[in-house]
Amino acid sequence: LTQAISSDLLLRLDRHERRDLRRQLERQLRDAISSGRLSAGATLPASRVLARDLGVSRSVVVEAYTQLVADGYLEGRQGSGTRVRIEPSSATKPPAPSRQDPARGLTAHFVNGIPDQPSFPRRAWERHYRAALQAIPDSGFRYAEPQGVFELRAALSAYLGRVRAVRTSPEQLLICGGFAQGLALVSRALRARGLDRMAVEDPCFGYHRHLIANAGLEPVPVAIDDHGIDVAELARLDVRAVFVSPAHSYPTGAVLAPERRAALVSWARRVEAIVIEDDYDAEFRYDREPVGALQGLAPDRVVYGGSTSKTLSPLLRLGWLAAPDGLFDDLMREKFLDDMATGGLEQLALARFVESGDMTRHLRRVRPMYRRRRDAALAALAAHLPDATPRGVAAGLNLYVELPDGCTEREVAERARERGVFVEGAAWHWARPRQAPPALVLGYGSLSESAIATGIEALGAAFRQPAGVASGASAAPTSSSPAP
Ligand SMILES: Cc1ncc(COP(=O)(O)O)c(C=O)c1O
Repeated sequence: LTQAISSDLLLRLDRHERRDLRRQLERQLRDAISSGRLSAGATLPASRVLARDLGVSRSVVVEAYTQLVADGYLEGRQGSGTRVRIEPSSATKPPAPSRQDPARGLTAHFVNGIPDQPSFPRRAWERHYRAALQAIPDSGFRYAEPQGVFELRAALSAYLGRVRAVRTSPEQLLICGGFAQGLALVSRALRARGLDRMAVEDPCFGYHRHLIANAGLEPVPVAIDDHGIDVAELARLDVRAVFVSPAHSYPTGAVLAPERRAALVSWARRVEAIVIEDDYDAEFRYDREPVGALQGLAPDRVVYGGSTSKTLSPLLRLGWLAAPDGLFDDLMREKFLDDMATGGLEQLALARFVESGDMTRHLRRVRPMYRRRRDAALAALAAHLPDATPRGVAAGLNLYVELPDGCTEREVAERARERGVFVEGAAWHWARPRQAPPALVLGYGSLSESAIATGIEALGAAFRQPAGVASGASAAPTSSSPAP
């Protein structure tokens, strides 16, 4: 052997090099520490272990360590081996910047796309996760099936059939990293088949429009009104694919009306188009019985997509597609080439969570809470922002609040920020943001009723505040507004 390698520390000694082994080892460790590859406090292997790894005598390692201790790179600690020295200055340095809590210092943070975080069913999840882990045989710690673990596909196909009237089977389901990956897979598969455009609702979630474009398809905007996408306008376009959120479109909250559902399906059949259905927020419908998924009307034409991001948490990154037979292999190819498979442990835990009925119990528990928050938001808007028109109130975790003409959403959002309230404008969700009517997207899902009421009261004050006049209210940390 001419080389001695420690794969743990990425060290490689060359026996042919003139410099002796001790000096090579010393230099490599010093470089690793200086470059930060070995960070302050990192523990080094015991000299016996490293010597065995490298196939050198123990004295080589002991001498190298001793020299580096003398040089101040390493320190030896009684009973706990040798570690990279922690400089007194680095020990007292503030911790590396962490992801700051965006809500810090705010009266109300109307964040979109996040369900109530404290409601995550920690205990049930922990129980299912542990059971799933224990049930995996030793031979099971390999790549999960690219299609998704069978247990989850079986649990979801039964659940989606029962709750959303989706017509599918474990064989037609594909598990992916959130709905976002699912949409990327469909977009790429269609692109590979030669499509170059996909119709999208206008407005739709801006991120999704970018994702579709990133996959090489031109997103073609089609107007959406209170009854969902304008199918007549769609039918006039030369497109063979459309992306819709029939249960609750984002951000407007429009629900696709029954006549439009039928029209959309017959258009898809007539021109042999693919409809991608984002079954977004379907679980949170407050005033009427939820309508079933569009996919149930035309499983041969509709790719159905769902996710745990709103029902449980976007931290999981778990989503799924139910796809027509003709497209399934293409989607599988895209999935396999994307990431081989979605993480199996979470899939197995989710399978148990769904199958045990805990998903249904969880939704039954949180739905009334969201409904009360929605009602609190509507009441506060009526009291403090009566000129604005809330839309999309029947479902979901957000309201689309149309502002009266003549104001700009950016101004209102900035003035609200000065009063400690974070709200998002809706413009970037529109295909042509500059022409977008002024509106706010008010995510109420993760705020208490009282925070919603206080936040909207402050929003009302921000709205009434004449342009160019500072609020004088207690400012959020980033505000630089002068006192009046
Ligand atoms: C319109 C819409 N659909 C679906 C999702 C869920 O996406 P994912 O599963 O990628 O988190 C979101 C999340 O923000 C969304 O806004």
